[in-house]
Amino acid sequence: MQINDVISIEREGPLALIVIDNPPVNAAGHAVREGLWKAVEAVETDDGVEAVAIYGKGRAFIAGADIREFGKPRMEPILTDVCNRIEACPKPVVAVLHGSCFGGGLEVAIGCHARVAIPGVKVGFPEVTLGVIPGAGGTQRGPRLMGIGAALSIITTGERIGHEDALSCGLVDRIEEGEPREVALRMAEEAQVGTLPCRKTGEIEVTPDAEAIEATKAKLAAKAAHLFAPHRAVEAVEACTGPLEAGLALEREKFQACIESPQRAGLIHAFFAERAVERIPEAGAEPREVSVVGVIGGGTMGSGIATACLNAGLTVRMNERDEEALGRGRATVEKNLAGAVKRGKLSEAKRDAALGRFKPSVALEDFADCDVVIEAVFEDMGVKRDVFGRLDAICKPGAVLASNTSYLDVNEIAACTSRPEDVIGLHFFSPAHIMRLLEVVVAEKTAPEVVATGFALAKKLRKVGVRAGVCDGFIGNRILSHYKKVADYLVLDGAAPHEVDAAIEDFGFAMGPFAVSDLAGLDIGWANRKRLAPTRPAEERYVTVADRICEAGNFGRKTGRGFYVYGDGQPEPAPEVAEIVAEEREKAGVTAREFSKEAIQARFITAMIAEATRVLEDGIALRPIDIDAVFLFGYGFPRHRGGPMHTADVIGAGELVARIERYAEEDPYYWQVPDLLRKMAAEGTTFAEMN
Ligand code: COA
Ligand code: NAD
Repeated sequence: MQINDVISIEREGPLALIVIDNPPVNAAGHAVREGLWKAVEAVETDDGVEAVAIYGKGRAFIAGADIREFGKPRMEPILTDVCNRIEACPKPVVAVLHGSCFGGGLEVAIGCHARVAIPGVKVGFPEVTLGVIPGAGGTQRGPRLMGIGAALSIITTGERIGHEDALSCGLVDRIEEGEPREVALRMAEEAQVGTLPCRKTGEIEVTPDAEAIEATKAKLAAKAAHLFAPHRAVEAVEACTGPLEAGLALEREKFQACIESPQRAGLIHAFFAERAVERIPEAGAEPREVSVVGVIGGGTMGSGIATACLNAGLTVRMNERDEEALGRGRATVEKNLAGAVKRGKLSEAKRDAALGRFKPSVALEDFADCDVVIEAVFEDMGVKRDVFGRLDAICKPGAVLASNTSYLDVNEIAACTSRPEDVIGLHFFSPAHIMRLLEVVVAEKTAPEVVATGFALAKKLRKVGVRAGVCDGFIGNRILSHYKKVADYLVLDGAAPHEVDAAIEDFGFAMGPFAVSDLAGLDIGWANRKRLAPTRPAEERYVTVADRICEAGNFGRKTGRGFYVYGDGQPEPAPEVAEIVAEEREKAGVTAREFSKEAIQARFITAMIAEATRVLEDGIALRPIDIDAVFLFGYGFPRHRGGPMHTADVIGAGELVARIERYAEEDPYYWQVPDLLRKMAAEGTTFAEMN
C-alpha cells in the first residue's frame, strides 16, 4: 500500500513492513515524516497486523533529518512527534539499519522497540558537526540505551560508529546479515513470536552520572569553548534522568536555539560547499582510467602526494634528481605510512601492500606507463619547463600531465609540451596526504576529460576538488598573498605579530598568519616576493620585516627561529622581530597605534573578502561557494563561519564597502572596493544568490 510518494507498506500475512524510499539517502524530510506517521496509524488500526519492521530502500536506512529544511518554517509533524508516535504503537516495531543511520534516522530507530543492524551500517549523531543537537529524542532516548557517558561521547563529538560498536554500547540489539527487506521480514516475524525482545526506550530507567557530565563539560571548555551546539547537547543530556516528556521539551528548546545560531548556518553551508564544488562544466566528460601515478620530486609535496596516492590503492612511481634525493623521498613516504599505522589509521597489511605498489626510480623513462604524472619539483619555471619537455617525449598518449605549482602559469607549462590539452594543475596542500583540498587548475587548452580525471582523482584520494582558473596563485594562494599584506600593514602600523595571530586565532583559525608563515618556511614567501619584486607597483606599501628575518638566516620552524622562537615549550615571540619592527616603523615614519582584537579581525577578513570578490569577478572561481570550500578545506578557515564568502554575507556588502572606503583613506592603493561588491551593496544582494 502506497502511503505517499516516499513511504509504503508491504504486507506478508500478519507482518507489515514500512518502506522508506526517498533517494538519494532517505533523508527524513516532511514527506517521510508525514508518511511514517500515517503508516504507523495504518498498521495500528489494521487488526490483521501483529508486528512491524521499518527498512530503507537504496543506500541508507535514513541518513538523517533533511538538512535543507533547517532554518526554514517547520512543517508538522515534527520528527519528535513521529518518534513518539512510533514508540507509542502497541504493536512491536523493529528498525532494520543498513548503510547510513544518522541523526534523525537514529532517532527514528531508537523510537522503535528493537534495532537490528546489517553489517557495514554506520550510526551516529553528527548534529553537532552541523551546529545543532539531536532534536527528536536523541539526547533523551540515547542515554537510556547507552548510558550517559557513552551517549555524551557520541553526541558531543558527532563520531560515527560501526555495527559492532553500536551493539556493544547498546544502541542496537542484534546484528543480522542479509538484504534490508529480507532481514526486516525475518525480524518482524521474530518480534511477533517473541524471540526478538522488544521494549519502549522511553520507559528505560537511566542511572545518573554526574562524573561523566562534569568530565564532558571540562573537555568541551578546553577544546570547544567557541562552539555553540556541543554545550547545548550536554545541557539536554543532563535532563535525561527526569521524565521523558520534560526532557524532550528541554531538548526541543535547545535544538531551536541551535537552529537560530549563526554557527548552524555556517556549518551547514560548509556541508553543502563540500558537495557543491563537484558541479563543474566538465561534469559530463568521461574521466580517463587512473591506476598508475607518477610523482616527480620526493620533497615535502612529492612525498605527501605519493603517500596520498598509495593510500588510495594506486601504483605510484617516484622520480628524483639522484639516488640520494630519491632515498630521502622514499624514506619520507615510509615514515608517513608508518605514522598512519601508529595512529591506527592503517593496518600493517595495508601498509605492506602500499609499499609493494611504490616504485621509486631515477630513470624518468620508467614513467612511460603512468596514467597521471604529478610534477612537484622546485617552484622554478626553468626546472618545470625542462621536466614537462621530457615528460612529453616519454609519457604514453593520453597520460595526464599535472603540475603542483603554487603560483606559476600553467598555460606556460602546458606550452612546453606538444599536448597542452593533457596538461592541468593539481595543486595539493601541505601535508598532502592529510589536507583535503585539491585545486584543479584548468588551463586554456585543458581537455574536459582531463578536468574530469582531476576531479575523479580527487574523489579517489578522498579530497575536495575545487575548479580554479589560471592566475598568480589560483584561488587560495592569490587571496592569501593579498591578506598576508594586511597582516604586515597591521604590524607596521602598531600591532605585534603575536597580537595579530592571537586575534585571528580568536576568530577561529587554528593558527594566525605569522605562525603559519613560520610553519610553511619563511624562505618560501621570501622567494615569491623576490620573484614578484620587478612587477611590484610603486604605490604599494612594502613591509620588509619578513625579508629581514630571512636575511638573518631564520626561516621559521625549520630553523627554530622566525617570528617566534621554537624551543621545548610554547613558541615565544622572537625579541629581535620587535626590534626590526621598531626600526622599520621609524624608517617609514609611522607612529605606532593600538588595534583592538576586533579591529584586527575586521581588516584581515575584509581584505580576504575583497580579493576573493576579485577572484570571482575574474572568473578564477566558478562560484562564491567554491572559494569557501578552498578556505575551509585548505586554509583552516573556521568551519562554523562557513568560509569567507558566507562570512561576507553575514557582514553584508554595504558594511564591507563602508569599511573598505574607510580604510582607503589611509591606503587607497591597497584598499579598493571591488565593482561586484559595490553593485551588491547597491542592489542588496548576497553571494549566496550566486551559488
Ligand atoms: N539532508 C539532505 N540532503 C542530504 C542529507 C541530509 N541529511 N545527507 C545527504 N544529503 C544529500 C547530499 O547533499 C547529496 O546531494 P547532492 O547529490 O545534491 O549533492 C546527496 O544527498 C548524496 O550525499 P553524499 O554525501 O554526496 O553521498 P555519500 O554517499 O558520499 O554520503 C552520507 C552519504 C549519508 C554518509 C552523507 O551524505 C552524510 O554524512 N550526510 C549527512 C548525515 C547527517 O549529518 N545527518 C544528520 C542530520 S540531522
Ligand atoms: P621541495 O624542495 O621540498 O621538493 C622539491 C623536490 O624536487 C626536491 O626533492 C628536489 O630534489 C626535486 N627536484 C628538483 N628538480 C627535479 C628534477 N628535475 N627532477 C626530479 N626531481 C627534482 O619543494 P616542495 O615544497 O615539495 O614543493 C614542490 C612544488 O610544490 C613546488 O612547485 C611548490 O611551489 C609546490 N607546492 C608547495 C607547497 C608547500 O607547502 N611546500 C604547497 C603546495 C604546492
